[in-house]
Amino acid sequence: MRIYQAHIIDTPTPSSFRIFENGYVAVDDDGIVVDVWHELPLELVHRTADPSSDVRLIQLGDRLLIPAFCDMHVHAPQYRNLGLALDEELLVWLNRYTFPEEARFSSPEYAEHIYRRFVHELWMQGTMHSSVFATIHPQATDLLCRLFAEAGLSALVGLVGMDRNAPDNLLNSARDLQDYYQTHHRASSQSVFPILTPRFIPSCSPEMMRTYGQLVASYGLPVQSHLSENRSEIDWVRQLEPESVCYADAYRRYGVLGQTPTLMAHCCYSEGKELEMLRDNHVTVAHCPTSNSNLASGIAPVRTFLNEGIPVVLGTDVSAGHYMSMLRVIQYAIQVSKLHYARTEGQLPYLSLSEAFYLATKAGGQYFMQAALSEKGTGSFEAGNTFDALVIDDSYLNYDHYTLEHRLQRYIYIGDDRDIRIRFARGNQLPEPIL
Ligand code: GUN
Ligand code: FE
Repeated sequence: MRIYQAHIIDTPTPSSFRIFENGYVAVDDDGIVVDVWHELPLELVHRTADPSSDVRLIQLGDRLLIPAFCDMHVHAPQYRNLGLALDEELLVWLNRYTFPEEARFSSPEYAEHIYRRFVHELWMQGTMHSSVFATIHPQATDLLCRLFAEAGLSALVGLVGMDRNAPDNLLNSARDLQDYYQTHHRASSQSVFPILTPRFIPSCSPEMMRTYGQLVASYGLPVQSHLSENRSEIDWVRQLEPESVCYADAYRRYGVLGQTPTLMAHCCYSEGKELEMLRDNHVTVAHCPTSNSNLASGIAPVRTFLNEGIPVVLGTDVSAGHYMSMLRVIQYAIQVSKLHYARTEGQLPYLSLSEAFYLATKAGGQYFMQAALSEKGTGSFEAGNTFDALVIDDSYLNYDHYTLEHRLQRYIYIGDDRDIRIRFARGNQLPEPIL
């Protein structure tokens, strides 16, 4: 067992930070959190002092120890477009910039070049869990899974399904999906899990959606997709699926809304019937505020979701989101919620720092645990969770009179990956992945 001493901060509940100044966290040999303390129990004081004991005390000094981040919506093949081409709204952006880039992943060499950099950046930014869209290409997707496993990072990885409204070289078929999942419905390693990934309704014909419904029923796999991101997209779905009462209903009617853990990105315009449908089908919303700002999509009603008991997690949505750091996503989540608050004359409270931090850590971990059928949670230092953590050295930002909560706030708003000294995943200190 190892015991780390540092300033430990996490959010077991959204309403406030739990802070252990010069506290202790014990991690067993399987990488599971045993307990967290303000003071080390006397028995452990003796054991850590005994050189023959198997308990080691590691003092991390005047540093912050926080849970690693969960990016619950990100497109690996869009990594090269980071920060580019954010001058259009969703549908033009997809056709003009995104589809041509994704088509390049038919080349395994190109895929390896980009995917190595993508996985390296997740490591760099301290994102130990993610839910990832790949492309339609099985070989490149297998490679991505292998790179995650080699890096020691946890991921839900989806081969993307799309059989209409895109260039021919970026289409697959219902049959391709059946073939793929016949051999890919189990975890490909200890930390990498499959997730069904219909791109969105405009990309998937009724035949493909029916196949997704069958795959959900046969294999019990989780689902991720996009929902109600942009007004033109919603109008288009209304034309494509006239029998559906709302966009979410188009997924529901094919049996891919809540039969298994379901993660829907954006939901900027989910209200009324659709909001009820998300709640009643236990859908998790992936809120992507950097993306929604960049593509002028809208502001998701996150407070309303939370009040309704709809779980919300956060995602970068790279490359509609322009940056891989979950720090930026936490910051934008708070900022867009404040703008929403001002616009709606303060009817509902905006997100607090601890709430946004919770969404980026424990809430993401809860979805991941359900989707990976795991018994171990992550995203907070509660006993029984895996120890996925970051050691932050904020000494250059620091003045004596700051509280620990203010130090964390400064790190979130103006810190970056250079401040991360150690990254732990499942109890192991992760080395930098090979580029
Ligand atoms: N809707 C369908 N595909 C995409 C995508 O790649 N990014 C975003 N932001 N929305 C989408
Ligand atoms: Fe997306």
